[in-house]
Amino acid sequence: MPARQRLQAAQPRLTVTDVSEAEVAAVLQHGELTLEGRLVPASNASFYGEVTLDGVALPCVYKPVRGERPLWDFPHGTLAGREVAAYAVAQLAGWLVVPPTVLGDGPFGPGMLQQWIEGGPEEGSGERPDEGTIEGTATVLVDLVGRRDIPAGWLHVLDAVDAYDDLVSLVHADDPTLRSMAVFDAAVNNADRKGGHVLVGRGGAVRGCDHGVTFHIEDKLRSVLWGWAGRPLVDADREALTRLACALRQTATEVRLGELLRSDEVVQLRRRVDRLLRTGRHPRPSPGWPAIPWPAF
Ligand SMILES: Nc1ncnc2c1ncn2[C@@H]1O[C@H](COP(=O)(O)OP(=O)(O)O)[C@@H](O)[C@H]1O
Ligand SMILES: [Mg+2]
Repeated sequence: MPARQRLQAAQPRLTVTDVSEAEVAAVLQHGELTLEGRLVPASNASFYGEVTLDGVALPCVYKPVRGERPLWDFPHGTLAGREVAAYAVAQLAGWLVVPPTVLGDGPFGPGMLQQWIEGGPEEGSGERPDEGTIEGTATVLVDLVGRRDIPAGWLHVLDAVDAYDDLVSLVHADDPTLRSMAVFDAAVNNADRKGGHVLVGRGGAVRGCDHGVTFHIEDKLRSVLWGWAGRPLVDADREALTRLACALRQTATEVRLGELLRSDEVVQLRRRVDRLLRTGRHPRPSPGWPAIPWPAF
Protein backbone atom coordinates (compact mmCIF):
# COMPACT_ATOMS: atom_id res chain seq x y z
CA MET A 1 0.00 0.00 0.00
CA PRO A 2 1.45 3.45 -0.85
CA ALA A 3 2.83 5.41 2.11
CA ARG A 4 0.21 8.12 1.71
CA GLN A 5 -2.68 5.65 1.92
CA ARG A 6 -1.17 3.96 4.95
CA LEU A 7 -0.87 7.34 6.63
CA GLN A 8 -4.39 8.34 5.77
CA ALA A 9 -5.69 5.42 7.79
CA ALA A 10 -4.56 7.35 10.87
CA GLN A 11 -6.12 10.70 9.96
CA PRO A 12 -8.08 12.70 12.51
CA ARG A 13 -11.75 13.44 12.85
CA LEU A 14 -11.35 17.21 12.98
CA THR A 15 -10.78 19.24 9.86
CA VAL A 16 -10.23 22.98 9.64
CA THR A 17 -10.45 24.43 6.16
CA ASP A 18 -11.22 28.09 6.72
CA VAL A 19 -8.26 29.17 8.79
CA SER A 20 -5.66 31.51 7.26
CA GLU A 21 -1.98 30.56 6.96
CA ALA A 22 -1.08 33.06 9.69
CA GLU A 23 -3.70 31.55 12.01
CA VAL A 24 -2.46 28.06 11.24
CA ALA A 25 1.09 29.15 12.08
CA ALA A 26 -0.15 30.69 15.36
CA VAL A 27 -1.98 27.49 16.34
CA LEU A 28 1.14 25.46 15.54
CA GLN A 29 3.31 27.88 17.50
CA HIS A 30 1.19 28.31 20.63
CA GLY A 31 -1.21 25.37 20.66
CA GLU A 32 -1.19 22.21 22.72
CA LEU A 33 0.24 19.19 20.92
CA THR A 34 -1.16 15.68 21.29
CA LEU A 35 0.65 12.93 19.42
CA GLU A 36 -1.39 10.20 17.76
CA GLY A 37 1.25 8.07 16.08
CA ARG A 38 4.55 7.83 14.30
CA LEU A 39 4.90 8.28 10.53
CA VAL A 40 5.92 4.77 9.52
CA PRO A 41 7.61 5.51 6.18
CA ALA A 42 9.62 8.43 7.58
CA SER A 43 13.40 8.14 7.76
CA ASN A 44 13.55 10.46 10.77
CA ALA A 45 11.50 10.05 13.95
CA SER A 46 8.46 11.96 12.69
CA PHE A 47 5.08 12.04 14.38
CA TYR A 48 1.51 12.71 13.42
CA GLY A 49 -0.63 14.60 15.93
CA GLU A 50 -3.10 17.31 16.64
CA VAL A 51 -2.47 20.79 17.90
CA THR A 52 -5.24 22.82 19.54
CA LEU A 53 -5.59 26.47 20.48
CA ASP A 54 -8.74 28.38 21.48
CA GLY A 55 -11.06 25.73 20.07
CA VAL A 56 -9.19 25.38 16.77
CA ALA A 57 -7.73 21.92 16.19
CA LEU A 58 -5.30 21.15 13.40
CA PRO A 59 -3.65 17.94 12.31
CA CYS A 60 0.11 18.32 12.20
CA VAL A 61 3.50 16.72 11.78
CA TYR A 62 6.00 16.97 14.62
CA LYS A 63 9.67 16.21 13.93
CA PRO A 64 11.79 16.51 17.08
CA VAL A 65 15.42 17.51 16.50
CA ARG A 66 16.36 14.53 18.71
CA GLY A 67 14.81 12.17 16.17
CA GLU A 68 16.82 13.46 13.21
CA ARG A 69 18.85 10.73 11.55
CA PRO A 70 22.50 11.83 11.19
CA LEU A 71 23.53 12.55 7.58
CA TRP A 72 27.06 12.70 6.19
CA ASP A 73 26.58 15.99 4.36
CA PHE A 74 24.38 18.05 6.72
CA PRO A 75 25.32 19.15 10.25
CA HIS A 76 23.44 17.10 12.83
CA GLY A 77 20.42 18.70 14.50
CA THR A 78 19.76 21.30 11.78
CA LEU A 79 16.96 19.74 9.70
CA ALA A 80 14.06 21.26 11.67
CA GLY A 81 15.51 24.76 11.17
CA ARG A 82 15.94 24.07 7.44
CA GLU A 83 12.27 23.05 7.16
CA VAL A 84 11.20 26.31 8.80
CA ALA A 85 13.59 28.31 6.59
CA ALA A 86 12.13 26.59 3.51
CA TYR A 87 8.64 27.74 4.55
CA ALA A 88 9.99 31.27 5.13
CA VAL A 89 11.50 31.35 1.63
CA ALA A 90 8.24 30.17 0.03
CA GLN A 91 6.39 32.89 1.93
CA LEU A 92 8.85 35.62 0.93
CA ALA A 93 8.49 34.64 -2.71
CA GLY A 94 4.72 34.26 -2.45
CA TRP A 95 4.73 30.61 -3.52
CA LEU A 96 1.97 28.57 -1.89
CA VAL A 97 3.99 25.38 -1.96
CA VAL A 98 4.85 24.62 1.68
CA PRO A 99 2.36 24.09 4.53
CA PRO A 100 2.88 26.47 7.49
CA THR A 101 5.93 25.25 9.40
CA VAL A 102 7.27 26.55 12.73
CA LEU A 103 9.85 25.70 15.36
CA GLY A 104 8.14 24.46 18.49
CA ASP A 105 8.24 22.05 21.36
CA GLY A 106 6.71 18.65 21.94
CA PRO A 107 6.98 15.54 24.11
CA PHE A 108 10.40 14.72 22.60
CA GLY A 109 11.77 18.24 22.88
CA PRO A 110 12.29 21.06 20.38
CA GLY A 111 11.53 20.37 16.78
CA MET A 112 9.48 21.47 13.82
CA LEU A 113 5.70 21.49 13.57
CA GLN A 114 3.97 21.56 10.20
CA GLN A 115 0.34 21.59 9.19
CA TRP A 116 -0.77 18.17 7.96
CA ILE A 117 -2.28 18.28 4.47
CA GLU A 118 -5.38 16.12 4.29
CA GLY A 119 -5.35 14.13 1.07
CA GLY A 120 -7.95 13.84 -1.65
CA PRO A 121 -11.15 15.73 -2.45
CA GLU A 122 -13.77 15.88 0.25
CA GLU A 123 -16.68 13.74 -0.87
CA GLY A 124 -19.85 15.63 -1.71
CA SER A 125 -18.45 18.86 -0.28
CA GLY A 126 -18.72 20.78 -3.56
CA GLU A 127 -15.41 22.27 -2.44
CA ARG A 128 -13.89 24.72 -4.90
CA PRO A 129 -10.17 24.75 -5.51
CA ASP A 130 -8.49 27.75 -3.86
CA GLU A 131 -5.43 29.63 -5.08
CA GLY A 132 -2.54 27.33 -5.91
CA THR A 133 -4.71 24.34 -6.65
CA ILE A 134 -5.22 21.98 -9.55
CA GLU A 135 -8.47 21.38 -11.33
CA GLY A 136 -10.24 18.03 -11.25
CA THR A 137 -9.76 15.16 -8.87
CA ALA A 138 -6.15 14.10 -9.47
CA THR A 139 -4.57 13.02 -6.20
CA VAL A 140 -1.22 11.94 -7.62
CA LEU A 141 0.86 14.37 -9.66
CA VAL A 142 4.05 12.34 -9.94
CA ASP A 143 3.88 8.76 -11.15
CA LEU A 144 5.68 5.77 -12.59
CA VAL A 145 3.68 4.47 -15.58
CA GLY A 146 4.05 2.12 -18.54
CA ARG A 147 5.46 3.82 -21.65
CA ARG A 148 2.03 3.70 -23.31
CA ASP A 149 0.14 4.95 -20.26
CA ILE A 150 1.59 8.44 -19.91
CA PRO A 151 -1.40 10.71 -19.13
CA ALA A 152 -2.06 13.31 -21.84
CA GLY A 153 -0.19 16.55 -21.22
CA TRP A 154 2.08 15.11 -18.52
CA LEU A 155 5.82 15.73 -18.66
CA HIS A 156 8.37 13.01 -19.10
CA VAL A 157 11.37 12.80 -16.76
CA LEU A 158 13.10 9.48 -17.49
CA ASP A 159 12.65 5.91 -18.69
CA ALA A 160 13.61 2.79 -16.79
CA VAL A 161 13.12 -0.97 -16.88
CA ASP A 162 11.08 -2.46 -14.03
CA ALA A 163 11.54 -5.80 -12.24
CA TYR A 164 9.54 -7.56 -15.04
CA ASP A 165 11.71 -6.06 -17.83
CA ASP A 166 8.89 -3.71 -18.83
CA LEU A 167 9.66 -0.13 -19.87
CA VAL A 168 8.33 2.40 -17.37
CA SER A 169 8.51 6.19 -17.33
CA LEU A 170 8.79 8.65 -14.49
CA VAL A 171 6.32 11.43 -15.29
CA HIS A 172 4.61 14.33 -13.60
CA ALA A 173 1.70 16.64 -14.28
CA ASP A 174 2.24 19.94 -16.11
CA ASP A 175 0.74 21.82 -13.19
CA PRO A 176 1.53 25.48 -12.37
CA THR A 177 1.95 24.93 -8.62
CA LEU A 178 4.19 21.95 -9.25
CA ARG A 179 6.20 24.11 -11.66
CA SER A 180 6.61 26.77 -8.95
CA MET A 181 7.63 24.01 -6.56
CA ALA A 182 10.40 23.04 -9.01
CA VAL A 183 11.68 26.65 -8.97
CA PHE A 184 11.35 26.79 -5.18
CA ASP A 185 13.39 23.54 -4.98
CA ALA A 186 16.10 25.08 -7.14
CA ALA A 187 16.16 28.18 -4.92
CA VAL A 188 16.39 26.27 -1.63
CA ASN A 189 18.63 23.58 -3.18
CA ASN A 190 16.32 20.75 -2.18
CA ALA A 191 18.20 17.45 -2.12
CA ASP A 192 15.09 15.30 -1.66
CA ARG A 193 12.03 16.14 -3.80
CA LYS A 194 10.60 12.62 -3.94
CA GLY A 195 7.22 11.82 -5.49
CA GLY A 196 5.90 11.17 -1.97
CA HIS A 197 6.93 14.67 -0.92
CA VAL A 198 4.37 16.16 -3.31
CA LEU A 199 1.00 16.33 -1.56
CA VAL A 200 -2.42 17.03 -3.04
CA GLY A 201 -4.80 18.28 -0.39
CA ARG A 202 -8.57 18.26 -0.28
CA GLY A 203 -9.85 20.72 -2.86
CA GLY A 204 -6.71 20.19 -4.93
CA ALA A 205 -4.16 22.35 -3.08
CA VAL A 206 -0.66 21.22 -4.07
CA ARG A 207 1.98 21.38 -1.35
CA GLY A 208 5.41 19.89 -0.71
CA CYS A 209 6.77 18.37 2.48
CA ASP A 210 10.08 17.20 3.92
CA HIS A 211 12.37 20.16 3.32
CA GLY A 212 15.01 19.14 5.86
CA VAL A 213 17.85 18.58 3.40
CA THR A 214 17.94 22.03 1.86
CA PHE A 215 20.20 25.10 1.75
CA HIS A 216 23.48 23.19 1.43
CA ILE A 217 26.17 25.49 0.01
CA GLU A 218 27.06 22.90 -2.66
CA ASP A 219 24.67 22.15 -5.50
CA LYS A 220 22.56 19.21 -4.28
CA LEU A 221 19.31 19.55 -6.18
CA ARG A 222 17.76 16.07 -6.35
CA SER A 223 14.21 15.93 -7.60
CA VAL A 224 11.59 14.09 -9.61
CA LEU A 225 10.33 17.40 -11.03
CA TRP A 226 12.67 17.72 -14.03
CA GLY A 227 9.89 18.03 -16.62
CA TRP A 228 10.64 21.74 -17.17
CA ALA A 229 14.47 21.42 -17.14
CA GLY A 230 16.05 24.07 -19.38
CA ARG A 231 12.72 25.73 -20.17
CA PRO A 232 12.20 29.47 -19.63
CA LEU A 233 10.65 30.46 -16.30
CA VAL A 234 7.09 31.70 -16.57
CA ASP A 235 6.39 35.33 -15.62
CA ALA A 236 4.76 34.39 -12.28
CA ASP A 237 7.84 32.47 -11.13
CA ARG A 238 10.20 35.20 -12.31
CA GLU A 239 8.16 37.72 -10.34
CA ALA A 240 8.25 35.46 -7.27
CA LEU A 241 12.04 35.14 -7.60
CA THR A 242 12.36 38.93 -7.93
CA ARG A 243 10.30 39.37 -4.74
CA LEU A 244 12.51 36.81 -3.02
CA ALA A 245 15.73 38.44 -4.26
CA CYS A 246 14.55 41.81 -2.87
CA ALA A 247 13.50 40.29 0.46
CA LEU A 248 16.86 38.52 0.79
CA ARG A 249 18.57 41.92 0.71
CA GLN A 250 16.60 43.17 3.69
CA THR A 251 18.16 43.08 7.14
CA ALA A 252 15.01 41.65 8.73
CA THR A 253 15.13 38.64 6.39
CA GLU A 254 18.83 38.16 7.02
CA VAL A 255 18.20 38.16 10.76
CA ARG A 256 15.24 35.78 10.46
CA LEU A 257 17.05 33.31 8.20
CA GLY A 258 20.23 33.76 10.22
CA GLU A 259 18.46 32.17 13.19
CA LEU A 260 17.74 29.07 11.11
CA LEU A 261 20.71 28.74 8.74
CA ARG A 262 24.44 29.49 8.67
CA SER A 263 25.39 32.83 7.17
CA ASP A 264 27.22 31.23 4.21
CA GLU A 265 24.03 29.24 3.48
CA VAL A 266 22.02 32.48 3.35
CA VAL A 267 24.63 34.02 1.02
CA GLN A 268 24.50 30.96 -1.23
CA LEU A 269 20.66 31.09 -1.27
CA ARG A 270 20.87 34.67 -2.54
CA ARG A 271 23.35 33.59 -5.24
CA ARG A 272 21.11 30.75 -6.42
CA VAL A 273 18.11 33.08 -6.63
CA ASP A 274 20.17 35.65 -8.57
CA ARG A 275 21.44 32.91 -10.91
CA LEU A 276 17.89 31.71 -11.61
CA LEU A 277 16.88 35.28 -12.44
CA ARG A 278 19.95 35.76 -14.62
CA THR A 279 19.46 32.57 -16.68
CA GLY A 280 15.65 32.95 -16.64
CA ARG A 281 15.39 29.17 -17.01
CA HIS A 282 14.65 26.07 -14.96
CA PRO A 283 17.97 24.41 -14.11
CA ARG A 284 19.11 21.19 -15.77
CA PRO A 285 20.48 18.27 -13.74
CA SER A 286 24.15 18.83 -12.96
CA PRO A 287 26.46 16.11 -14.35
CA GLY A 288 28.41 15.46 -11.14
CA TRP A 289 25.48 14.75 -8.85
CA PRO A 290 22.62 12.17 -8.87
CA ALA A 291 19.62 14.11 -10.15
CA ILE A 292 16.90 11.77 -8.84
CA PRO A 293 16.40 11.03 -5.12
CA TRP A 294 16.60 7.45 -3.94
CA PRO A 295 14.08 6.04 -3.54
CA ALA A 296 12.21 8.29 -5.98
CA PHE A 297 8.88 7.89 -4.10
N1 LIG B 1 2.62 18.14 6.19
C1 LIG B 1 2.29 16.95 5.72
N2 LIG B 1 1.02 16.71 5.27
C2 LIG B 1 0.66 15.49 4.79
N3 LIG B 1 1.50 14.45 4.72
C3 LIG B 1 2.77 14.61 5.16
C4 LIG B 1 3.22 15.86 5.68
N4 LIG B 1 4.52 15.72 6.05
C5 LIG B 1 4.85 14.46 5.78
N5 LIG B 1 3.81 13.78 5.25
C6 LIG B 1 3.77 12.37 4.84
O1 LIG B 1 4.60 11.61 5.69
C7 LIG B 1 5.68 11.04 4.94
C8 LIG B 1 6.94 11.07 5.81
O2 LIG B 1 7.22 12.40 6.15
P1 LIG B 1 8.60 13.08 5.76
O3 LIG B 1 8.47 14.53 6.01
O4 LIG B 1 8.99 12.66 4.39
O5 LIG B 1 9.55 12.44 6.85
P2 LIG B 1 11.12 12.15 6.82
O6 LIG B 1 11.80 13.45 7.05
O7 LIG B 1 11.40 11.26 7.96
O8 LIG B 1 11.43 11.52 5.48
C9 LIG B 1 5.78 11.89 3.68
O9 LIG B 1 6.35 11.18 2.61
C10 LIG B 1 4.31 12.22 3.42
O10 LIG B 1 3.64 11.12 2.81
MG1 LIG C 1 10.74 11.95 3.53
